[in-house]
Amino acid sequence: MMLPIPTPITTSNLFECAEAFLSSSSIDEMLSITHHAKQQLDEGKLSFSFNKPVLPIELVQFPVKPELMAPRNMPKRKLNTSEGIAAFFHAIAHIEFVAISLAWDLLYRFRDLPLEFYQDWLIIADEEAQHFELLNIHLLKTGYLYGDFPAHGGLWDHAIDTADDLLARLALVPRCMEARGLDVTPAMIDKFKGLEDNDSVALLTRILTDEVGHVERGSFWYKFVCQQQGIDPNSNYQDILLRYYKGKKPKGPFNRELRIIAGFSHAELDWLEH
Ligand SMILES: [Fe+2]
Ligand SMILES: [Fe+2]
Repeated sequence: MMLPIPTPITTSNLFECAEAFLSSSSIDEMLSITHHAKQQLDEGKLSFSFNKPVLPIELVQFPVKPELMAPRNMPKRKLNTSEGIAAFFHAIAHIEFVAISLAWDLLYRFRDLPLEFYQDWLIIADEEAQHFELLNIHLLKTGYLYGDFPAHGGLWDHAIDTADDLLARLALVPRCMEARGLDVTPAMIDKFKGLEDNDSVALLTRILTDEVGHVERGSFWYKFVCQQQGIDPNSNYQDILLRYYKGKKPKGPFNRELRIIAGFSHAELDWLEH
């Protein structure tokens, strides 16, 4: 059976693009909407007016493949087989794919912020789409495609849990989930250096550099909203994390150097570490 070819999106309204993206379950369509919106921004054609109600987060769609699994049921794979390496890059591709949706959802769901907020998260959505595409090409070289392995089913949970709370969204998505990438990616890069796999080293290095920027934007907007609401960013960050993780702190070790560049304060890092 021939699958219908999606009609290319033509709107230059950011929120119409966001709604089309979040309602789609076609990977190709989601990527093309993202690049289209970014191109509209680059050409100065993007409009930011919105006059429709926000879709409930429960209506956000995802592709039928990969099959989503609870993390504890995911098969453990090591980097000493080609299938293990493919499974590793598939897991990263999935993180990047969900990251596109996370950036779109952030700019779609939370309104009345400065124009730069929407521009920043669209630029980030587009970078996440590029990361996903690069990883998909990389995966193809190993003989696999995105969707060939099961994937972590919990990455969207933080978005659902923070759909009504911008500060919690910023604290938990860019400043916890994405920030974790800054802690763990340098060691992964070293592993591929050890395997003399220069393509993987270059790809992971490119992603890490961009991710520092994403977390930095997360920190910037987190602090901006705290200031707007007259809230202390340090104590509020602690409160949000302790509430969300039921009294526990996220696991370290933390990459202090990269997290500082990404807008963490020494006080926040001291608290996370002790
Ligand atoms: Fe990314
Ligand atoms: Fe990111």
